[in-house]
Amino acid sequence: MTEAIKLIIDTDPGQDDAAAILMAHGLAKRGLIDFVAITTVAGNVGLADVTTNARMLCDWVEQPTFPVYAGAAKPMIRPLVTAANVHGEHGLDGAVRHEPQTPLQPIHAVAYLVDILRRAAPQSMTLCAIGPLTNIAQAVSLAPDCVQGIKEIVLMGGCYFEAGNITPAAEFNFYVDPHAAAVVLACGAPITIVPLDVSHKACVTAARMNGLRQTGTQNGRRLADILQSYERHDIQQFGLEGGPLHDPCAVACAVFPDMFHGRSCAVAVELQGSLTLGASVVDWQGKSNLPVNARWITEVDADRLFDELRLSILHLP
Ligand code: RIB
Ligand code: CA
Repeated sequence: MTEAIKLIIDTDPGQDDAAAILMAHGLAKRGLIDFVAITTVAGNVGLADVTTNARMLCDWVEQPTFPVYAGAAKPMIRPLVTAANVHGEHGLDGAVRHEPQTPLQPIHAVAYLVDILRRAAPQSMTLCAIGPLTNIAQAVSLAPDCVQGIKEIVLMGGCYFEAGNITPAAEFNFYVDPHAAAVVLACGAPITIVPLDVSHKACVTAARMNGLRQTGTQNGRRLADILQSYERHDIQQFGLEGGPLHDPCAVACAVFPDMFHGRSCAVAVELQGSLTLGASVVDWQGKSNLPVNARWITEVDADRLFDELRLSILHLP
């Protein structure tokens, strides 16, 4: 049995983030990961709401001492753009909200990331980034030496073979903070990118939604209710068979890499274009002399992904 990976999730919950976070808590219960902490970043909705949502999720899984750190309230340079039209005013439409018991940690998420990565054994921590990359970009800018503690950054973001979901050219996480995405892509850590190219192949069909309800668990029912509310936007926009499970793809890719396939190539983010700001420029054919800096994922075994999600939810209350 290989050692469980040490996972930190940087997130902007967010309905699909909620699925990813519940999956991670279930994976921890299964002994497949050491789920170390959650750091929150403004994205789908503002920082206060994404942080409340992260703490609520920890209450739902009866982990009231789980470490949650609040991070950046806005992108590095750009004004904040949210996706409340998709996820709801407070970012978790479909869920019954409550005042969370899980406390907020007293230090800023960026300071926490710098400290834990500096102290970590070399290449021992996996960062799963499923929101705008502001926190991670600020950490590696503030303290480039903290990269030593990173085993891999698995991030949900970008699009190349798929159209953008916030502009025709850009995916939401890269669009909200393109400068942060560029900083992270240049930080030198091993990076795996889980873009719309693959998350659009992992959609919550009615059968998969029922599979969550049939777990008979409170969190299976909660998650099905949330995803039922979430799916309408992307079905209308992309004509998909269900809501694409973007963020759980990133968690699954960190834990079950053989479930996914892609190619190592040079990846850059457009920072200048008025129409293409945040677009992913992927040298899929190896035409440029740009350094290969990431693995770009395009394929997933979607049935296996949902099996692992369901199995993880079965381990929750
Ligand atoms: O484009 C999809 C990504 O943007 C997901 O992480 C979703 O939660 C939003 O943050
Ligand atoms: Ca997200």
